[in-house]
Amino acid sequence: MKIAVLPGDGIGTEIVAEAVKVLQALDLKFEMETALVGGAAYEAHGHPLPESTLKLAKEADAVLFGAVGDWKYDKLDRPLRPEQAILGLRKHLGLFANFRPAICYEQLVGASSLKPELIAGLDILIIRELTGDIYFGQPRGRRIATDGHFPGSEEAFDTMRYSRPEIERIAHVAFQAARKRKAAGSEGRVTSVDKNNVLETSQLWKDVMVEIGLQYTDIALDHMLVDNAAMQLVKAPKKFDVLVTGNMFGDILSDEASMLTGSIGMLPSASMNANNQGLFEPSHGSAPDIAGKGIANPLATILSAAMMLRFSLNQGAAADRIEAAVKSVLEQGLRTADIYSAGTTRVSTLEMGDAVVKALK
Ligand code: NAI
Ligand code: MG
Repeated sequence: MKIAVLPGDGIGTEIVAEAVKVLQALDLKFEMETALVGGAAYEAHGHPLPESTLKLAKEADAVLFGAVGDWKYDKLDRPLRPEQAILGLRKHLGLFANFRPAICYEQLVGASSLKPELIAGLDILIIRELTGDIYFGQPRGRRIATDGHFPGSEEAFDTMRYSRPEIERIAHVAFQAARKRKAAGSEGRVTSVDKNNVLETSQLWKDVMVEIGLQYTDIALDHMLVDNAAMQLVKAPKKFDVLVTGNMFGDILSDEASMLTGSIGMLPSASMNANNQGLFEPSHGSAPDIAGKGIANPLATILSAAMMLRFSLNQGAAADRIEAAVKSVLEQGLRTADIYSAGTTRVSTLEMGDAVVKALK
């Protein structure tokens, strides 16, 4: 089993170091190879996604990714910015299905900005299509407008685009995930989120969801407009089971959902392609505001490593062990700054990683 380890910049290097430590504490045979990505790769090679890093990622069974980005690179041309590395990896590896479980750990119920009764026991799954939509749609650009409200003035445009096969494959992913969750006791329902009252792409999205849904008669399907979904996520988040949506709506809704659970520092993610190869990363970014201080929460990355074991490396038992160890450190009252509350014990990034390793044993 070969794992490509791409820490990136900002807190990326700090949190990935802890996840690697946890992986090494399992008695499994991995080959782990580290490479530069994002701003770190730009500094060394003049490009955020060097050919050698991409090659390593393609050859590996799975990629463990930290985070990329820093305000100091904002002046660079877009293709050279660190964030292009993660977009490039998604595109080159065909990582079209992004899984973001939003789980509220019992010990962190008080850390959420929502009332405890709304989020206690929360366990929902957001599935975001990751390689289509307005983030990749062509044409895009800037030009002088020849029509519209202000002809003759500068304008910019992007293209929201989805093809039928792109929607079909993410629909299958969502229904199959709902089926797995149903077997484990969930309701077995997919909520498809779109904006079909306004957008053509959304109308096709909804039509295809309905068609594919006919193949999964054991799973319920409902539809929700994205603006309503944004409200329902804070009003009654537990009413969702699996939420599936496009790239841009999913970007926003999954960040919103992350806040229900207390801290974005707790949320792992998996991005999968059709060959079960995946990239696993925390849902948060490189947090330049706290980078280098040793206070970042490494649990999202450690939980991403658990998803990696389960999704791409066929090591479900080892994934269970990591998740149990994370629960155990929370039960012990250990907290990084982002999840700290009175009466708990504040620990550093490194101490949190060490505690998870200790709990594994
Ligand atoms: P962010 O997720 O990096 O940070 C948002 C807030 O959450 C900050 O206050 C940060 O300190 C805090 N935070 C994030 N992760 C944390 C952790 N593990 N422990 C404790 N606190 C944590 O998002 P932001 O600030 O919008 O973006 C910062 C940079 O990251 C930008 O350059 C952005 O483009 C990039 N980014 C990269 C992503 C990726 O690598 N996949 C995803 C999102 C943003
Ligand atoms: Mg985001």
